Amino acid sequence: MSQSNALAEAYKQTNYQLSGHGRRNIQILKESINDLNELQESDMYGKGKIIEDFQAKVAAYLGKESAVFFPSGTMAQQIALRIWCDKKQLRKVAYHPLSHLEIHEEDGLKKLHHIESVLLADKTRLIEMEDVLNMQEDVACLLLELPQREIGGQLPDFKTIEQISSYCRNEGIMLHLDGARIFEILPYYKKSAVEICNLFDSVYISFYKGIGGIAGAILAGDKNFTNESKVWKRRHGGDLISLYPYIVSSDYYFEQRLDKMNQYYEYAKEIAELFNQCFAVSTLPIQPVSNMFHVHLSISKDKLETLLTSIYKKTEIGFTSFVKEKSEESCYFEISIGDAIVKIPKEKLKKAIQMLNESMEENHN
Ligand SMILES: Cc1ncc(COP(=O)(O)O)c(C=O)c1O
Repeated sequence: MSQSNALAEAYKQTNYQLSGHGRRNIQILKESINDLNELQESDMYGKGKIIEDFQAKVAAYLGKESAVFFPSGTMAQQIALRIWCDKKQLRKVAYHPLSHLEIHEEDGLKKLHHIESVLLADKTRLIEMEDVLNMQEDVACLLLELPQREIGGQLPDFKTIEQISSYCRNEGIMLHLDGARIFEILPYYKKSAVEICNLFDSVYISFYKGIGGIAGAILAGDKNFTNESKVWKRRHGGDLISLYPYIVSSDYYFEQRLDKMNQYYEYAKEIAELFNQCFAVSTLPIQPVSNMFHVHLSISKDKLETLLTSIYKKTEIGFTSFVKEKSEESCYFEISIGDAIVKIPKEKLKKAIQMLNESMEENHN
């Protein structure tokens, strides 16, 4: 077995896991439908009470005129950008070089929609006002991802978003929010979802990250925009005859977890501090601004995998199921706090992180 597979296997066997809400198994769906009326009608091709009520509820929560439920964020965002490009008759959009669209979607935007991307900032930092001002090319739309997941979930100042928003409005550039993790950033900004979404023309949010549903996304904006998005949803094959298993679980966990985002954020800060006390380990950001952060370590990926596998077996605590390589001598992994954390006895967790510290020191000597 490769070292990466051994780590993933050891992680599966642990009793306690640092990230997420617990195991992603069928129980997640079962729990969410337990109290539902069995006679409630299914949605049919995007119509029906069950989907329309949820769309209206989320539109109100985001302060947008209208919202559409999608099976995935990948589909929703490519469609959003296509609509804005058609409106502006310009097939160019700007976003961060580590945007989900750029690195995780097999070039869907380019291959399916022939939309070019203009990359702002570099891979190590956030998009700042300067980057927008210095943009050399005309674009139909600018996409901001809050928080920027691939750099540890960093966030710009709220003022920066306000400035970018007002600049885009003046310049006629549509502003789209990749809000896959929008719920998770509200405690840091101390803002409502409405206050954030007001700054954007269109918004995508996810129901399986901090919320922990099965899958599903909402795309929100004005009525013209969402009506067009429904046509594209059909073209993309996203208009499943029934989406209700995703909708009911999204709604159920939205209700369960919305109020817990502050708790996840506080835990994230506390756990990051413990990692930062370890030898040759630091978190990005040093102090998390949401429930997520990355743990960077000065050690090769292979060595860390061996070391973590052993820690998991000894402590029954899993930090992560996979590690990403940065260079030959450095690597990192992601932590995203959810309900699972409350089950871990604090002393046990401290001991596991202490073990990481000792192993890192031994590796250096
Ligand atoms: C920032 C961001 N945007 C978009 C997506 C796409 O969401 P989906 O998996 O629903 O296609 C993800 C998924 O991980 C994401 O992290």
